[in-house]
Amino acid sequence: MPDLNPMNGASFAQNARPFLYGGEEEAVQAVLASGQYGHGEVTERFERAVADFLGVDDVVAVASGTVALHLALAVAGIGPGDEVIVPSMTFCASVQAICATGATPRFAEVNAGSLCAGPEEISDALTPATRAVVPVLYGGRAVDLTPLRDELGARSIVLVEDAAHAFGSRTHGRYVGATGQLTCFSFGPIKNLTCGQGGAIVPRSAQEAEQVRRMRLLGMTESPDERARSVSYTVSGPGLRAHLSQLNAAIGLAQLPHFPQMATARRTLWCHYAQALDGVPGIEVVDVQVGASVPSLFAVQVPYREHVFTALRDNGIGVGTHYPPNHLQPAFARWRRPLPVTERIGKRILTLPFHPKMTGHDVETVAEAVRGALR
Ligand SMILES: Cc1ncc(COP(=O)(O)O)c(C=O)c1O
Repeated sequence: MPDLNPMNGASFAQNARPFLYGGEEEAVQAVLASGQYGHGEVTERFERAVADFLGVDDVVAVASGTVALHLALAVAGIGPGDEVIVPSMTFCASVQAICATGATPRFAEVNAGSLCAGPEEISDALTPATRAVVPVLYGGRAVDLTPLRDELGARSIVLVEDAAHAFGSRTHGRYVGATGQLTCFSFGPIKNLTCGQGGAIVPRSAQEAEQVRRMRLLGMTESPDERARSVSYTVSGPGLRAHLSQLNAAIGLAQLPHFPQMATARRTLWCHYAQALDGVPGIEVVDVQVGASVPSLFAVQVPYREHVFTALRDNGIGVGTHYPPNHLQPAFARWRRPLPVTERIGKRILTLPFHPKMTGHDVETVAEAVRGALR
């Protein structure tokens, strides 16, 4: 049997990479043989399996985390003229999803220790036009906005969680996604759970679930099965081609039973890094609350970031930048406002190689290279 997770060079050469357990190939082959590559029974089994894992009534699978956010905002009624608060320190996907609805992003600061926008930062960003907040669960850390719940509720401001990093993380003893918020996951290649490419929405009601299901299939009322049997179809509202292919769903379905192994590997790796870098002058580890999270990144703030980045890259170490602040991107310049904490972090942030094939020895090698670059 070939190695399912072959390395190109050392395991720390890449910042992140997918991890396969072994059943994925057979699962994809079965779908290929079925000839049914669109939305179908495998996608629906994946939705049920994710809902059971999270302990929620329903989950709607879609093509990506980006489109999950877009559709979740749309079914929450967000559109042109609405303002949506989002931390600038996130992947550009969070912001593009807001823009895709026609709404306006309003960039929020983040807490310098967690890189999440918490109650204080969200509260500071609120305006009379705010209709939604997109908390981003940076690195897998849950964001607790309980102190703001009453105020947001009274102002009919909806929460749409960007939990792209946080599949399997917990808050108040429940999984992220099982706390009653509209929650969006990504199952992209390097996420805690991968479908190759994919995403999901945890809806707040059966009606919301139905709406998203229709929107992900171009607004058509009939399911693909029903369409195959009927002479026509009905387009009852707006929609996108945003379903999760059975090929991708099969990968996720094969991955899910192994998730506890992934969760342990990621936590162990994160703790190993934190220990290896403890006390290194100038290094600040971004805290993901590892006891409750399944970390998806290991991020640090470092002085002389460009120098450290280049020195590590020259040593064959796959460092990354998660993220260049969005409010400084040309595409979002219209909505720029001063965010001094984010701007400072944007010059200091560095992510170290982080994936479950890494060993303790690999972590020590990376940590030594970081120490060397800072000497
Ligand atoms: C914070 C965040 N939000 C949204 C997304 C979008 O997910 P996808 O790549 O599945 O569209 C990502 C993807 O990396 C992400 O990191």
